[in-house]
Amino acid sequence: MKKIAVFASGSGSNFQVLAEQFPIALLFSDKKNAYALERAKNLGVPSYTFELKEFENKVAYEEAIVELLDKHQIDLVVLAGYMKIVCNTLLSAYEGRIINIHPAYLPEFPGAHGIEDAWKADVSQSGVTVHWVDAGVDTGQIIKQVRVPRLINDTIETFEARIHETEYKLYPEVIRELV
Ligand code: GRF
Repeated sequence: MKKIAVFASGSGSNFQVLAEQFPIALLFSDKKNAYALERAKNLGVPSYTFELKEFENKVAYEEAIVELLDKHQIDLVVLAGYMKIVCNTLLSAYEGRIINIHPAYLPEFPGAHGIEDAWKADVSQSGVTVHWVDAGVDTGQIIKQVRVPRLINDTIETFEARIHETEYKLYPEVIRELV
């Protein structure tokens, strides 16, 4: 079994779904007030948090992350709502071992507002994508993706909820194959 670290910056609902199905060695958050940290406590998952502003620059910040991952002998880094771009320090140490989930059907609607952008574009369907992380924003090799329809009576909330429900199925499916 590979040792998994999950990275989350916010709510951590994907983290929670994963932690209920897989042993998670650690949660890392770049936000001290992330609700994901609360979830980790409740789930008994060790959590670590430090913020970019505590460091001189992003290199030093990512060096601290690499040190944490090395110390715990992490095999797979699972980004789940981690809202920072992964830079060279972390990438060069862990490339090929970092995956991300994106709430759209890449390459459609990359970036931080995948759901909202798809909604505003009036698409009849969007989707969810799990991909390897490279130096770009949501550009890495796609592992698996599924379509999610936008229904006639949808509000952005119901559309968003359907996308999240799809994430909660797809991410564990992919991780099961990888570990
Ligand atoms: C998810 O929609 C994920 O696809 C995106 O950020 C969101 C994180 O939600 N990258 P949560 O923190 O897992 O609730």
